[in-house]
Amino acid sequence: MLDEVATATGTPNIALIKYWGKRDEKLILPQNSSISITLDETLSTKTSVLFSKRLKEDSLYINEKQIDLSDGDAKERFEVVNKMRKLARIDSKVLIVSQNSFPTASGLASSSSGVATLVYALSTALGLKLSPKELSIMARQGSGSSCRSIFGGFVVWNRGKNADGSDSYAEQIANAKHWPEIRVIIGIASEAKKKVSSRAGMKQTVANGILYKSRLGYVGNAVEKMIRAIKDKDFKSLAEITMRDSNNMHATMLDTWPPILYLNDISKGIVYKMHELNEAEGESIAAYTFDAGPNAFIITTEKYRPKVVKALREVDGVSDVLEAKVGEGPRIIKDSLIDTEELASKGSR
Ligand code: DP6
Repeated sequence: MLDEVATATGTPNIALIKYWGKRDEKLILPQNSSISITLDETLSTKTSVLFSKRLKEDSLYINEKQIDLSDGDAKERFEVVNKMRKLARIDSKVLIVSQNSFPTASGLASSSSGVATLVYALSTALGLKLSPKELSIMARQGSGSSCRSIFGGFVVWNRGKNADGSDSYAEQIANAKHWPEIRVIIGIASEAKKKVSSRAGMKQTVANGILYKSRLGYVGNAVEKMIRAIKDKDFKSLAEITMRDSNNMHATMLDTWPPILYLNDISKGIVYKMHELNEAEGESIAAYTFDAGPNAFIITTEKYRPKVVKALREVDGVSDVLEAKVGEGPRIIKDSLIDTEELASKGSR
């Protein structure tokens, strides 16, 4: 497969039960199981990969910007490329070109779609033919949440018990067609890069959080209840568990030392607005959840979508509202981001 470009497209997932904290930093093994919805291509990543003897060095471009692979965070994440190259017994250098349809590192879950899409493209480019479980284990080692984006629909990432991580991977709870009425409405509260990365934030929380221990005591039960709610299409339960889990995770962030706050005043406005909306309806029709950033992800159904969008737009400071459905997961596409003829004419990159 050398000298052939492989291109994949993939999408972020939004966690309903959050992953926040590792029990193994190197293998990226989580402290708890988590559950997510994979989004459709409203937000998407496209990644092309080329292994070639003609390339003199590894290079990675994200949104047309070359990434310094000697930089700590990028270096750590690039390890997954080395692992896969080793597995395929190929020592050629690689050119990776990736494009996000949304701002990187703004809490719009770009790492989850970035790494999942990359692993998908790498597996094809290297001729590895990995199973979805193997792809999920690979993706996990690049960025934890990305192991869930290997699947479409509703997904659980099992914590696992083994020290080598062999039982810590994602599985589909139900596919994208199971509950087609579900919508994820995104309220943009800031497009700025976050001050504390998820990786650093969760490390600090595990190290010195007081409330964090209590989170670990409750979350196992919440995972079981969420799986039931998804299977039964029980929106009321899904909504309450989702909102409480997001609040719980953000409470553990605030409780670490020094404190970490990812939510801003606009996010808080959204929280109050959604509770007002649910109260006015007399039932939960909208459930907010926030990752390590101020942007809101509101889970609702098609029936209530217009009301939720209207309410979100009424919150002071919300700059944009995006509407997503449940997505099918990554796939290989023909449309490449690498022009091999141009590369050949330049010698190499
Ligand atoms: C708040 O997967 O970005 O979005 O494993 O260190 O790469 P690393 O972290 P990452 O953390 C995501 C945290 C979260 C919750 C979630 O998606 O479950």
